[in-house]
Amino acid sequence: MRDNQNFQLQRKQLFLRPKRTAMLLHNIQEALNNQVKLEAASSQAYLAMASWCEIQPGLDGVSEFFFQQSNEERIHMLKLIRFINERGGFALIPALEQPIVTFKSLKSLFEEFLNHEITVSNSINDMVDLALKERDYATHNFLQWYVSEQIEEEKTARILNDKLELIGEDKSGLYLFDRDIMTRRSGKTS
Ligand code: FEO
Repeated sequence: MRDNQNFQLQRKQLFLRPKRTAMLLHNIQEALNNQVKLEAASSQAYLAMASWCEIQPGLDGVSEFFFQQSNEERIHMLKLIRFINERGGFALIPALEQPIVTFKSLKSLFEEFLNHEITVSNSINDMVDLALKERDYATHNFLQWYVSEQIEEEKTARILNDKLELIGEDKSGLYLFDRDIMTRRSGKTS
């Protein structure tokens, strides 16, 4: 409660005339801001994957997949920023560490992709729990979009890992994997 009062005071001090907005609990705001950072880090991580793939021979499809995935994560971040501010919080733009920029194989890159998405899903689930505990139904409702999105993202990452496992060292299989990977993104709007 004290933290929340401090935060409200801090927000008032930032503006001559604060907007009339709903009040976001401090711990909810903190969790949402952590998620902003995680989505921003995801965008950077996938940009690094896209760049690494782009300089490998024959991975143009995979590279394009990760360039688009990186853009999508930025959109996820922006949605959170707009929501936090709209609900009377203050979205903080985070500093980021450099992501992993080189990979020992395409397989290890895709394992990293899946692990990253699992981390994001866990973080979303924790926020849903917190929103329910605090009876913040607006945030709970907002997060449902992320819950659905994570089901899709994890599914895609698992399917692509399974395909790579199946392909093994088969070069023609890898050629088809790269050629067809963008079909996993068809119909995606975010
Ligand atoms: Fe926005 Fe793939 O997590």
